[in-house]
Amino acid sequence: MDKERVIDVNGLGASFDDTVVLSDVNFSAYKGDITVVLGASGSGKSTVLNHLLGLIPVEKGFISVLGKDISNITEAEQLNLYLQMGVFYQSGALLNSMTVGENIALPLKQHSNLPDSLIEEIVYMKLGLVNLQHAFHLFPSQLSGGMLKRAALARAIVMDPPLLFCDEPGAGLDPISLASLDELIINLQKQLGISVLMVTHEVTSIMRIADRIVYLENGVVAFEGSLKKALESDIDSVKHFFSVINEADRFK
Ligand SMILES: Nc1ncnc2c1ncn2[C@@H]1O[C@H](COP(=O)(O)OP(=O)(O)OP(=O)(O)O)[C@@H](O)[C@H]1O
Ligand SMILES: [Mg+2]
Repeated sequence: MDKERVIDVNGLGASFDDTVVLSDVNFSAYKGDITVVLGASGSGKSTVLNHLLGLIPVEKGFISVLGKDISNITEAEQLNLYLQMGVFYQSGALLNSMTVGENIALPLKQHSNLPDSLIEEIVYMKLGLVNLQHAFHLFPSQLSGGMLKRAALARAIVMDPPLLFCDEPGAGLDPISLASLDELIINLQKQLGISVLMVTHEVTSIMRIADRIVYLENGVVAFEGSLKKALESDIDSVKHFFSVINEADRFK
């Protein structure tokens, strides 16, 4: 494959209180792709993500993000890397005491020296990308669940990160809001060239957006490859996961 690797995970292991969660995890994610991390509840998907984000130190194995070994970088490099990673979590709530616009401006105010007028322009532009310009002056409590997710997405991309991490971004959304969130993520991928690493259980979302699948099971990656290959996989768990789709097909 010619594509540039944006994430490389080699031999990653992780344990909590003597329980081994990840024993030997190996996978890569490529530039411009939407890579979906799948696996049963408790298989360690969030644990992998938290390692990539530097929230859990790597104790076994190696991780490289955007070409940097995350266990072997200076504090300055770490901050620089952190600024290149947008994070969009299920629980990524906005601060209720600030307007949507102020929430989204926050990372720029903290990490850039841009004048306020320019920050405001950038925030408007990002809100435009998620179809939320009208919400600039609203408070989070005045938004619907789907609008909140879109606002959190705008905040995640306000620093123009080349890499976006999402942990179950669609959880709790109705099918229509979920479809529009997926569409926004695809647009970010296509228009801004962002590479996305996403954890989700939503089969319909996966069918719409995934380029590649990484399937975690028993502490290792049981499958890694294109969505097409995943749909044709002989591995029981992967087959079982996608069998929902085939069942739905029968009613067409
Ligand atoms: N900070 C922690 N302390 C102790 N155990 C943890 C911690 N974080 C995760 N675990 C354990 O590690 C295992 C994997 O958790 P993880 O959150 O990574 O799973 P997941 O695949 O994201 O599951 P889900 O689909 O339910 O979100 C679970 O057994 C969990 O209890
Ligand atoms: Mg999780």
